[in-house]
Amino acid sequence: MPINESLYLIGFMGAGKTSVGRALAFITGNPVMDLDDRVEEEANMSIRDIFEKYGESYFRELESKILRDSIHTKAIITTGGGVVLNRQNREFLKKTKRVIFLKCDPEVTFSRIGADPLRPLIKNKTAKEIGEMYKERLPYYMECAALSIDTTHLSIDEIAKQIQKEMNF
Ligand code: S3P
Repeated sequence: MPINESLYLIGFMGAGKTSVGRALAFITGNPVMDLDDRVEEEANMSIRDIFEKYGESYFRELESKILRDSIHTKAIITTGGGVVLNRQNREFLKKTKRVIFLKCDPEVTFSRIGADPLRPLIKNKTAKEIGEMYKERLPYYMECAALSIDTTHLSIDEIAKQIQKEMNF
């Protein structure tokens, strides 16, 4: 059944945010919006190119702006894994919509995303380095989340159904 409120899906790269968002949209009949897609539309280039041409801080500025623009969007909103790095973004997430953290064991994350060249922050990184990045970010995800779901051993469909059940969609 369509919802009248919206939520943010947060979590580390490879946790399944985008796929879960789409599956949840499909089973609940709600729209879905991906903030990374919006960033790419706004910049008219891929995230990889934004990082290469303008650097991470420019990407983060754009990401924060797009996050703020989503305040009135009624949808399942999927975010990039680093959106929580900025304190103001965390405050914004906590006070605007329900936030669901898709938690995933960093080793499983690494096996899913490997050294994905399309993800500028992890290309050329080892499993250990990715694990450290995850550890640094974990408190931020926890701080924002109204609900955390451990997705390590769940399929995309199972995660979507669990959110549907827990959020009473
Ligand atoms: C990032 C995650 C990416 C994307 C960008 C930076 C991060 O999104 O926003 O490459 O800092 O974790 P996904 O989490 O969808 O891969």
